[in-house]
Amino acid sequence: MALRSFVLQLLVTLLTVRAVTVYNQEPIAHVQTLSAQSVAATASGTSAAPLASHTGYKAYDPMTLTPPELPDPRPATQFNVQLQNSASNVQGLSIFQSGAFFGFSIETSVINQVLGKNSSHIQVPFLNLISLVAQRAGRFHIRIGGNTQETARYVDSTPDGRMIEKQGVDPNNPTATPALVYTIEMFYLLANISSLVNVKWYLGIPLNDTSDLRLEIAEYGQAIIGDNLIGLQVGNEPDLYQRHAKRPDGYNAQSYFDEFGQVIKAMESNPKINRVNYLIGPSIAHADWTPDQVWETNFVPAYSQYLSAVTVENYPSDNCAAIYAGVGTLKVPQNEYYKYLSHDAPNSGKAMIQKFLSSSAYVQTQGKPFMMFETNTASCGGLPGISNSFGAGLWALDYGLQMAYSNFSHALLHIGGQDVYYNPCTPPPTGQSTFHEWTIGPIMYSILAVSEALGSSNQSQVIDLFANGDNPYTPGYAIYERGTLARVALFNYMTDQTGLSDYTASISVGGSVLNQPNGTPTSVKVKYLRAKSVADHFNITWAGQTFGGIFESDGRLKGEEVIETITCDSTNNTCQIKVPAPGFALVFLTDAALQESSPKPPVTFATTAQTRTINTATVDTEVLATSNGHSGRSRQKGSTSKGSSSDAMGISSVVPSLTVLMSLLGGVLVLVKAFSR
Ligand SMILES: *[C@@H]1O[C@H](CO)[C@@H](O)[C@H](O)[C@H]1NC(C)=O
Ligand SMILES: *[C@@H]1O[C@H](CO)[C@@H](O)[C@H](O)[C@H]1NC(C)=O
Ligand SMILES: *[C@@H]1O[C@H](CO)[C@@H](O)[C@H](O)[C@H]1NC(C)=O
Ligand SMILES: *[C@@H]1O[C@H](CO)[C@@H](O)[C@H](O)[C@H]1NC(C)=O
Ligand SMILES: *[C@@H]1O[C@H](CO)[C@@H](O)[C@H](O)[C@H]1NC(C)=O
Ligand SMILES: *[C@@H]1O[C@H](CO)[C@@H](O)[C@H](O)[C@H]1NC(C)=O
Ligand SMILES: *[C@@H]1O[C@H](CO)[C@@H](O)[C@H](O)[C@H]1NC(C)=O
Repeated sequence: MALRSFVLQLLVTLLTVRAVTVYNQEPIAHVQTLSAQSVAATASGTSAAPLASHTGYKAYDPMTLTPPELPDPRPATQFNVQLQNSASNVQGLSIFQSGAFFGFSIETSVINQVLGKNSSHIQVPFLNLISLVAQRAGRFHIRIGGNTQETARYVDSTPDGRMIEKQGVDPNNPTATPALVYTIEMFYLLANISSLVNVKWYLGIPLNDTSDLRLEIAEYGQAIIGDNLIGLQVGNEPDLYQRHAKRPDGYNAQSYFDEFGQVIKAMESNPKINRVNYLIGPSIAHADWTPDQVWETNFVPAYSQYLSAVTVENYPSDNCAAIYAGVGTLKVPQNEYYKYLSHDAPNSGKAMIQKFLSSSAYVQTQGKPFMMFETNTASCGGLPGISNSFGAGLWALDYGLQMAYSNFSHALLHIGGQDVYYNPCTPPPTGQSTFHEWTIGPIMYSILAVSEALGSSNQSQVIDLFANGDNPYTPGYAIYERGTLARVALFNYMTDQTGLSDYTASISVGGSVLNQPNGTPTSVKVKYLRAKSVADHFNITWAGQTFGGIFESDGRLKGEEVIETITCDSTNNTCQIKVPAPGFALVFLTDAALQESSPKPPVTFATTAQTRTINTATVDTEVLATSNGHSGRSRQKGSTSKGSSSDAMGISSVVPSLTVLMSLLGGVLVLVKAFSR
């Protein structure tokens, strides 16, 4: 396979070139098969690999960490949260936010897996999943891009009729990325998705060579996706261009500024483009330039009429040493874990966005939205046991609300295919969709919870409560909507099965202390995000419902929704909210706030796929359930790798599971938008 030899080539050259820091989010297919461990495993022919040397796709790695020790001293387990009912009495509230705060950033090279093969083969589980968010938030934002956007090229058709394809690279160029070609199907696919679920898209203009701008992405994007295309990114992490040899030495913020101007000129003089006012930049990684270096070029005011958002991209950590030899020191996940598990821990959202606070204030004065355009737990695929744990779910949720409080307007969580740990959602590997469903990561629950916390009015304002004496293990936020207190979000980062670290927050609204009329409600409703431990990968519930475990989701929440009613104490005017360790509670202070966040009935999508006749033999469901090998027993080596799944399974034919809305065998697809009432 060309890709595989490319990867080999890349690894070899990386060993020889000068120190290369890689921020690549592009999935590196099967790199793990080259690790010493797995080479040994392959050589010895063992299939019962211990958890620590999981050799399948990272998205299904079962390696589980130990939760960090409980803090000493422990935070108080009972504290008051005194709130004002009216936003006009509160200082420091954020700008107006929307429930579409969190969206996805999807690496272009995997859109055929995540979104669908083409405009008539849309992944139904994906539609179900994003419609959950769109129903709560009003819409959902998705960026298609990443490193592969820079060299992407439009073609009228590909030899085998595929929508996207990777082309070989020059083996003599150590930093070459395989060029991606795409056809017009990509635009139809995105447009079709938007016709089913209210998705707004961001695309990227290839910028590997400003003298050869390939503007089809803007031409067709505008013509086919229309108003649902809300942004065109110009340059992905330009502060890394020089380091990655994409530009000559001396390339700086001013050079980027100039190139941005060239793109505008080219677009304005292109008769097929009539919209140039939705460009996005500078999308720096805060690696080799600071945002201030870009602001000093006058970037924002100079291009104000062209900019729809001002963007940065950032990850609090990286796992590059695990992929590329010689790139830094290998991180030991257990030692990194605590860095994600408190409100101000080193890799917490709060810690990582400190460096952007002055930018968010500046961009606000320029009247532009400030966006975290690509982020997740750690670049280079995430960290095993961390990125795929419930702890990452709490991390993302706190990070999202912290960004909202800090006047970011949106944040896009990256999806990189099967070979990363941090995906909010992962489709089954190619060839396995006939018997496997999707795998939903903890971060997907965070996206849902943030959409509910902020609602669909576009008029939510967020404030960090510095709760419990600003204890980092028990943070909280209040959310005002249309000027009135609507919701309270409470976190407990600790894991303690004894129950001794559960806490109770006593919420009071207004009252004599504040010289305001008492506004404590008579009762409140609470939804919990829960798992037994921060280390758990699955068995996570949001208001009692779950997406299940590996290969178990069709994109819909399963189980009965549980919304707890807490009767408040009308003598003391307090509502006592218990928050388990670990867990997150979203408290709804009014019925209207709850209803807005609990759309009923859910919009779901069903397909019927007529299967190829050769695939009609029946297979014991027990075989299907265990054949992949990630159940930890009787692993069949190579079962999750490339190639025909039936070869890998050692079973000659498979049928789609009848229990689910399986996606899209070769055959006739009927897509039904079902409003089940
Ligand atoms: C979409 O993909 C399917 C499956 O690969 C294929 O059968 C179909 O012809 C494709 N449709 C278009 C319009 O390319
Ligand atoms: C830019 O990308 C295009 C399309 O993949 C490729 O043909 C070209 O050689 C690249 N140019 C540079 C300067 O890398
Ligand atoms: C998707 O787009 C194609 C055009 O490629 C169109 O024929 C088809 O009806 C669309 N399907 C849906 C479900 O919107
Ligand atoms: C967010 O913006 C609002 C309105 O300008 C401001 O009052 C508030 O202090 C800002 N918040 C932060 C954390 O900078
Ligand atoms: C929220 O903002 C979006 C984007 O501007 C807009 O399309 C939508 O209609 C707004 N929703 C409401 C309820 O005003
Ligand atoms: C989830 O919980 C159920 C019941 O407690 C248990 O049987 C199952 O093994 C758990 N699944 C995982 C993936 O931990
Ligand atoms: C109300 O407050 C009083 C005095 O602080 C306390 O003694 C009492 O237990 C409280 N009642 C409840 C139900 O918490």
